[in-house]
Amino acid sequence: MQQDGLATRGARAAAPLVLPQPERLALPDGAVQVWELADTQVNPACTRLAHTLAPDERARALAFRHARHCNGYVARRGLLRWLLGGYLHCRPEALRFTISAFGKPVLQWPQARLAFSVSHTDGLALLAFARACCLGVDVERRAGGENIAGVPEFGRGIFSPQEAQRLARARPASADALLSIWTRKEALLKALGMGLSADPSAYTTEDDWQRGAGHWRASRDGTAMSGWSCLDLDAGAEFRAALAVALPDASLTWHRC
Ligand SMILES: CC(C)(COP(=O)(O)OP(=O)(O)OC[C@H]1O[C@@H](n2cnc3c(N)ncnc32)[C@H](O)[C@@H]1OP(=O)(O)O)[C@@H](O)C(=O)NCCC(=O)NCCS
Repeated sequence: MQQDGLATRGARAAAPLVLPQPERLALPDGAVQVWELADTQVNPACTRLAHTLAPDERARALAFRHARHCNGYVARRGLLRWLLGGYLHCRPEALRFTISAFGKPVLQWPQARLAFSVSHTDGLALLAFARACCLGVDVERRAGGENIAGVPEFGRGIFSPQEAQRLARARPASADALLSIWTRKEALLKALGMGLSADPSAYTTEDDWQRGAGHWRASRDGTAMSGWSCLDLDAGAEFRAALAVALPDASLTWHRC
């Protein structure tokens, strides 16, 4: 960023960043587009996009103690603005956001029925978009080790009884099962707009073998949530990621800058 010194905070290795041309961005009904932003693209994204942030976003960025977190936020917000601007045919800096009571960023201007969700972890950020629906995405870095000791204690209040049983069955290789449930549940709760303000243990996520590998389904207090497409995302071996979208047969495409 030219102003505020945001783009100059910290110096990290950079990878090429090729932003999509706004006029070539299109988001048809029923489509879900997921964009990935690697950590190595954060600095170029900052340099290219920081000027599009609103004053409150700049202030939030500068409040991060570590340059790395500041840059990551600027890059994610800048890319979010760039992509939304392309889909909605307006300048990225003209977009205005508000925040829901549960912390979810929502478009204030232009008023458009375009849903988006952002998630990041150490090394990767994902941005998901779809029209006229609710959607949520979550990505987490896989932790080292296979077993999560004390999972039932850790998961109390988070996992439903069925999920707790699944984790117990997965031992000693429970780490991946935990991350799988965690990312699915966070994606779902983000789609619902509540995040962890909701009671996560009221929701159960499980494999949906009828739809095929990588598909999962969700229920709330034992009642199936119909009309959703729930997917594990292939974000590479280091990460676990999931997407929940309130569209019955969403068609997903994956994009890189
Ligand atoms: C949503 C939540 C689960 C995300 O947790 P996380 O794993 O740490 O972070 P992720 O990287 O996956 O997601 C962060 C993004 O989620 C989005 N987000 C925040 N709150 C959200 C919500 N309630 N619903 C949907 N998305 C939300 C934001 O875009 C945020 O990105 P940003 O910080 O760059 O703006 C967590 O922040 C939460 O539970 N928030 C709700 C808590 C609440 O009620 N807050 C009220 C006071 S504001």
